[in-house]
Amino acid sequence: MSKYNTLEQLLSVFWLRPETALWREIDIRTMSAFEMLTPSLDLGCGDGTFSFIRAGGEFDKSFDAFRSVTKLDQFFQNVDCFDTYDDNLSVQVTKSPKYQIDVGFDHKSNLLKKASQLGLYGSLKQGDANQPLPFPDQMFNSVFSNIVYWLDSPQSVISEISRVLKPGGCACLMLPNITFPKYSFYNQLYVNGKDTRWKFLEMLDRGRFADNIRQAKSLDEWQSMFECSGLKVERHHYHLSKLIIQSWDIGLRPLFPVLLEMSNELTPNRLIEIKSKWIEIMKVFLDPLIEIDKTLPGIEQPAFHCFELRK
Ligand SMILES: C[S@@+](CC[C@H](N)C(=O)[O-])C[C@H]1O[C@@H](n2cnc3c(N)ncnc32)[C@H](O)[C@@H]1O
Repeated sequence: MSKYNTLEQLLSVFWLRPETALWREIDIRTMSAFEMLTPSLDLGCGDGTFSFIRAGGEFDKSFDAFRSVTKLDQFFQNVDCFDTYDDNLSVQVTKSPKYQIDVGFDHKSNLLKKASQLGLYGSLKQGDANQPLPFPDQMFNSVFSNIVYWLDSPQSVISEISRVLKPGGCACLMLPNITFPKYSFYNQLYVNGKDTRWKFLEMLDRGRFADNIRQAKSLDEWQSMFECSGLKVERHHYHLSKLIIQSWDIGLRPLFPVLLEMSNELTPNRLIEIKSKWIEIMKVFLDPLIEIDKTLPGIEQPAFHCFELRK
């Protein structure tokens, strides 16, 4: 039996976007040795669902990440449909996480309000990670972040992470490899290929490439940034292969607004029934795909680095 039981939870939360569950499950497996030792910081925690599931938390079957989305009509104009909060929708946690995270930090207040319902974070702080972090020097024993590459200056934020870590403390960072942009259909065929027939891929990319994937770097490039900030690489893994990234790049993304509209028509009981069947089918494909992916010959480097860094 697998030592991971997180895929089912991820599929339940992200059922209409199984590509998100796929990516997150591979993240969880890749960082399995990393311990969030207290005091700990989740930098860019979002709504907290990823860290909650990673920590062994479980939600009621009826819960998903799509219950309070808005502005679906602007989905293809790159609007963040998840940046919303509904007071009437409470989260049903059926199993508490195995550990707590002392601080969750993000710049979106709606996401932090959702995170506050999980019983995972000691406190939640809103702020802009492009600015110096609002924490004293040497406050944390561990920091997790998968948002460094979304920020303007990775070198500055890496220095900030180092500043807030205690000596001997550890950070786990997910960062894009130099190959990541090459695996994006939009980037490869339309931006680099300059073939206007692929213009429709703008609708698939939805600004992801232009906005968020600015910082793809090789192992050596990341390593020299860490050295400049007084951090030493203790463990490094590549993850998220070309096959996985290309599956994720399309996923059910284009159909998402209409799938959500359809699922909103279902009664609560029917929704749970259909969702259960959906998850069973997804598992048949995703479970072996994740296993096979690990054993494929590494002709092309995977798209992401997972670094564990010691101060
Ligand atoms: C890909 S999500 C990751 C969220 C969460 N860690 C997870 O794995 O689900 C990126 C997160 O970074 C946050 N973020 C982006 N730019 C930020 C900034 N300048 N300061 C603080 N948070 C930021 C977003 O609000 C979002 O929650």
